[in-house]
Amino acid sequence: MKSYTLLINGQKHSVIASDDTPLLWILRDHLGMVGTKYGCGKGICGACTVHLNGVAIRSCQLPVSAATSGEITTIEGLAKNGKLTSLQKQWIKLDVPQCGYCQSGQLMSASALLARTPKPSDGEIDSVMSGNLCRCATYTRIRQAIHAAAE
Ligand code: FES
Repeated sequence: MKSYTLLINGQKHSVIASDDTPLLWILRDHLGMVGTKYGCGKGICGACTVHLNGVAIRSCQLPVSAATSGEITTIEGLAKNGKLTSLQKQWIKLDVPQCGYCQSGQLMSASALLARTPKPSDGEIDSVMSGNLCRCATYTRIRQAIHAAAE
């Protein structure tokens, strides 16, 4: 076990964990940030998506020892100072979620896409978002919300 300091949503957090503890479990079990979800634990479903230096990554696949090098943003930190992003507003307006379980991961992937590609095409959206699975098949509304936020 070692002590690690992580920069998450603009705040430093110190945790004691073994090197290979996935960031997902640090967020959920050590820090109580349960907005980031556990789905498959194998890097397949995207439910655990967070940003590392603005890039969407699978927190179930990133060991804590590799997470100290940059700024982590979770769904709890997506709205700055409590102000929803335009993407989050469109998500609400278009009633995107159904059961909701995958939605934090969807939002993190979509927001990273918009930061990199402000006006993505359908193909770019589908390509990036194909790594985030939704058992309720909200894909059409997700695409609509991303387009609406890009306007
Ligand atoms: Fe990480 Fe499924 S829980 S990709």
